[in-house]
Amino acid sequence: MKKLMALLLAVAMVASLTACGSKAEDASAGAANGTITFATNAEFPPFEFIASNGVLGEFDGIDMAMAKMIAEDNGMEAKMENMEFDSLLIALQNGQIDAVIAGMTVTDERKEAVDFSTPYYTATQVMIVKEDSDIAKATDMEGKKIAVVQGYTGEVCVNDLGYSYEAFKKGTECIMELVNDKCDVVVLDSATASKYVADNEGLKIVEDTEAFGSEEYAIAVAKGNTELLDKINASIEKLLADGTVSELAVKYSEEATE
Ligand code: ARG
Repeated sequence: MKKLMALLLAVAMVASLTACGSKAEDASAGAANGTITFATNAEFPPFEFIASNGVLGEFDGIDMAMAKMIAEDNGMEAKMENMEFDSLLIALQNGQIDAVIAGMTVTDERKEAVDFSTPYYTATQVMIVKEDSDIAKATDMEGKKIAVVQGYTGEVCVNDLGYSYEAFKKGTECIMELVNDKCDVVVLDSATASKYVADNEGLKIVEDTEAFGSEEYAIAVAKGNTELLDKINASIEKLLADGTVSELAVKYSEEATE
């Protein structure tokens, strides 16, 4: 029975990822003047966060290092803009920026709006709870106070599971809710969750691989911008093949980000 429920939930999840589509628009942002203008939402350690001496000015993290390397690999310079997560794909469609690098999960819905690069990282949603919590699997969230970040795939997952939740602007806000006992569980991407659990006492991670499938992070460009996408893909493939991405992942997962 439980297996069946999990299966149904998984099917529902996949179905709804494809269900709510947004309009595709053709914007041809060109990486002009030897600069690739990237945008991120620097609220997602270890992928992107603000640091006094970051790899890209005030920005640091796996994605920020990758953006710099991708630009340099193509004889260009990386420029980074910080914006709300929900604004990233719109900025891309409007031609305001050239590429989005934001630990962004490839979903069918987003694929209708933008084009994605070769994936460079595999993650999953996890549950963050207090150490003494009795939540051991996704279905234990029923009737509990759930916090998610607005617009993240974690919100989509919880929504698909059919549970009500409260959505916050930032991961740190969700964590504060949990620390202060204002919610019971936070659903968030695995690497970022590990970061927050390491930085805050009394929290633990609960995984449920049946309820939460794997997600792939990729860089997004405007639909049809194959010129830039080809460059980005060639660089990503090099960075994956020579172990740079894994090295960055290890480095930034171990390093303190606050
Ligand atoms: N992987 C999740 C998603 O695509 C969360 C990404 C959040 N990234 C960020 N830079 N704030 O929805």
